[in-house]
Amino acid sequence: MREQAISASKINISFDGVQILHDVDFHVQKGEVHALVGTNGAGKSTLMKIINGVYKKNSGRISVFDQPADYETPEGALHAGIAMVFQDLSLIPSLTVAENIFLQTNPYRKGPLIDDRQNRKKAEELLSLIGVDTEIHPYDIVENLSVGKQQIIEIAKALSHNPRVLILDEPTASLSSTEIDKLFDVIDTLKKKEISIIYITHYLQDIFKICDSLTLLRDGRTVFRKETDQIDLQFLVDSMAETVSKTFSWNRSSVDHDGCPLLEVKNISTSHISDISLKIYPGEVVGVAGLLGSGRSELLQALFGIDHIGKGEIFINGVAVRIDSSKKAIDQGITLVPENRREQGLLLDFTVSDNVVLSIVNRLKKFLVIDKYKSNKIVDHYIKSLNVKTTGPGQLVRYLSGGNQQKIVVAKCLASDSQILLLDDPTFGVDIHAKQEIMKIIHDYAAKGNGVLFVSSEFNEIANFCDSIYIMKRGSITEFLSQKVNEDDLLYKVQ
Ligand SMILES: Nc1ncnc2c1ncn2[C@@H]1O[C@H](COP(=O)(O)OP(=O)(O)OP(=O)(O)O)[C@@H](O)[C@H]1O
Ligand SMILES: [Mg+2]
Repeated sequence: MREQAISASKINISFDGVQILHDVDFHVQKGEVHALVGTNGAGKSTLMKIINGVYKKNSGRISVFDQPADYETPEGALHAGIAMVFQDLSLIPSLTVAENIFLQTNPYRKGPLIDDRQNRKKAEELLSLIGVDTEIHPYDIVENLSVGKQQIIEIAKALSHNPRVLILDEPTASLSSTEIDKLFDVIDTLKKKEISIIYITHYLQDIFKICDSLTLLRDGRTVFRKETDQIDLQFLVDSMAETVSKTFSWNRSSVDHDGCPLLEVKNISTSHISDISLKIYPGEVVGVAGLLGSGRSELLQALFGIDHIGKGEIFINGVAVRIDSSKKAIDQGITLVPENRREQGLLLDFTVSDNVVLSIVNRLKKFLVIDKYKSNKIVDHYIKSLNVKTTGPGQLVRYLSGGNQQKIVVAKCLASDSQILLLDDPTFGVDIHAKQEIMKIIHDYAAKGNGVLFVSSEFNEIANFCDSIYIMKRGSITEFLSQKVNEDDLLYKVQ
């Protein structure tokens, strides 16, 4: 039997009297890539935060390379050889890439000063190990980089500690296929160095590509640990939830392309995109497929009034409009589900209910007070239809699991009165069952005569779900596809 890297048994933890993990067993061997799988709110991040010293377990035993894990902080965990990349990014936006990577350790000092040159050199080494040294430079300021690149820097930061165990909580959520391939190469390299990797993802196919074994959690309990080659994808999907949700298939709505488009964009340019033209007709879901850095997110930001539009025109229902602020966009009936939910999409210290109804407060006012009955009804509707795992509408959003926070972002936008939804990776971090529900709701929304512009890093989602597709490369639209395509066609076209 190989050496155990992590051995956790009978782990229990509760928050505010609610038990989240129940006698969880979890074992990872030295040098293996081990997946941790389960639906949103199953307890994956919580278990990892216990192993990483962020949370204190109520009971249970953990050993790391056969030594009892007696640390109580992430620094203690690092010392024991465990580094973690969290589900939500934790970089400091105003610092450079190199400063962020070495923030905790600052290993390269000249007396009291940080040795900038050493820092940069080491950062360059790490970035080239990941294979992104031509795209990300140590002196880049983090806030100027896309979420995908920030995610890569998080990984570099974790690797800077030379861990023996690396925990990756949803590392591919905002990466596109090329970056994901690079990450898989890195994982391969680390594995050869006998480093153990714990890999959390909702992209279940990836598990069969890179993981040796997996543990499934359901409602805070260990269901099984298995070798990946003992099971297949369907078995895994079926085992994740107690009741298997049915697969939806949506009939493409027959969109009338002869009438007036709901949204027409003519030759708009910003500092990130150039000469973009597109149309969305009532009832239509239009996809934008592009790699990380292709300008796909920046296109949505322009249409939502975040990035200044230098030239070009926008028409809504045939009428020219000027969108130079998000308020203007909202007034025109446009809503954005942003790429980075924690920064842009949610008020973490407000309740689930407040977050959902915030954008429609005015509509809910009755003689200056909010109509509680109406607002509760809306919130309850979304909690149920999106299957949000929460103790109730009064729970703070901060304490929801990552995927459940994302469901609240989507609910908030759907609850608004808008006629055009701009969706930037809306099912980011959402499990396979909930994903189906969200897609169905978006489809129903469009079918009422609204329009959707849909960006996703998953090309199979775009291929299956969108009525027409624009391909973006380096800030421009290079192709328009009105016929059905498959995922591989898209992968080929975006290169
Ligand atoms: N600090 C906390 N306080 C209260 N409840 C919490 C806290 N952290 C997690 N929870 C609850 O514990 C449950 C498990 O959450 P966790 O984040 O571990 O889920 P997850 O499996 O990582 O899900 P996802 O796939 O959505 O990321 C959720 O119901 C969540 O609301
Ligand atoms: Mg999580």
